[in-house]
Amino acid sequence: MLRRIRVGDPSAASHSPGAIPGTRRRDFLRQSALLASSALGVRAIAAPGSVSAPRSENLPPNTPRWMKVQGEPVVSAPYGVPSRYEADVIRRATNITPTLWSSWSFTPLQDLHGIITPNGLVFERHHAGTPDINPEEHRLMVHGLVSQPLIFTIEDLVRLPSISRIHFLECSGNGLTEWKAPKEKTVQGTHGLLSCCEWTGVPLSTILDEVGFKPQAKWILAEGADAAAMSRSIPIEKALDDALLIYAQNGEMLRPEQGYPLRLLLPGFEGNMSVKWLRRLKLGEKPFMTREETSKYTDLIGNGTARQFTFVMEAKSVITFPSGGHQLKKRGPYRISGLAWSGRGRIRRVDVSTDGGRNWREARLEEPILTKALVRFRLAWNWDGGPAVLQSRAIDETGYVQPTRDQIVAVRGTNSVYHYNAIQSWQITQNGEVNNVHA
Ligand code: CO
Repeated sequence: MLRRIRVGDPSAASHSPGAIPGTRRRDFLRQSALLASSALGVRAIAAPGSVSAPRSENLPPNTPRWMKVQGEPVVSAPYGVPSRYEADVIRRATNITPTLWSSWSFTPLQDLHGIITPNGLVFERHHAGTPDINPEEHRLMVHGLVSQPLIFTIEDLVRLPSISRIHFLECSGNGLTEWKAPKEKTVQGTHGLLSCCEWTGVPLSTILDEVGFKPQAKWILAEGADAAAMSRSIPIEKALDDALLIYAQNGEMLRPEQGYPLRLLLPGFEGNMSVKWLRRLKLGEKPFMTREETSKYTDLIGNGTARQFTFVMEAKSVITFPSGGHQLKKRGPYRISGLAWSGRGRIRRVDVSTDGGRNWREARLEEPILTKALVRFRLAWNWDGGPAVLQSRAIDETGYVQPTRDQIVAVRGTNSVYHYNAIQSWQITQNGEVNNVHA
């Protein structure tokens, strides 16, 4: 990202010998700030205001400083990055996992607009870190109950007819800390294992046609090329319905942490099944009973038994503004905004309560309202300065209604990890603080 200084460049010449030219020095400082922030963890980068304190000389009726000098040259950042005033909008890692390699990071939902998650902010969940895969050395092998086992290169796959779809991706562990007492302070912590992207790839059904799957093939083992060989069993119905082999995300090739160069995407199913770094599909008669569907990704319920193969992410919603950690500065009009989604199809309606669920009003759903995708909802609200509890409740096109916390606990108990989709409550205190509560 360092700008090359041309010989004879007046801006370079203006510096005394040995001095770091202005642009390079700024880059150096920026990189130092980033290094410091990664060493210290999350909120190490100062709030935008303190990058340089706001100066009245830049406010009307004055001409701001940045109108008096040339800006950064074109292509000073060959791959663009956000404004330095947005340095606080970042993924944040969980603090409850024992290793750096099997861990997860959360999407900053409180800072996003619309429904698309930028690639650099898509949540991560890895079981053995992110592999560094040379796409020319990567293959997809399809075998088992097929008439013709085949091995595909990435180039082979990209040449096949591709489609692009917008879908959410949610880890089934999203909200896992909320089964017991409220723990996470922000919506990034309570709901941030959730992202929504435009995905481009080849329908899995196309590949299954190529290999000619046998009628007794009912399940497919999907295996990743990470050091965990992350593996799940996929029902053939889903594979033939809307499953995709993805190579691109939001217009560019997948990021390494999202499965570069190839991942599976099972729209509406728990994120863990959309196996990243996909290297192998094996067709069989029965589920393969991998670790990630026997010891993990099962749901302990109240009576001590467990549910297995709970694939669909049921309808859910959350208010992202105002949400935990926000501070309302004065009473008056606000626009409540949030996200709703369902693994079973489209969102039909979202209701919002500002009094802890006693009264509900229907929110406005923003276009587009796509199947198995995030939907943005908004509702005008006047804060009278008193205490309030904000909630949202999603209803999907099947008629399924997002449960209250009491309803889900009555069925599931409090010892599950996965598939927590209860209504979220944000309490507004009299001084405008917003807190995560279980109402
Ligand atoms: Co499940």
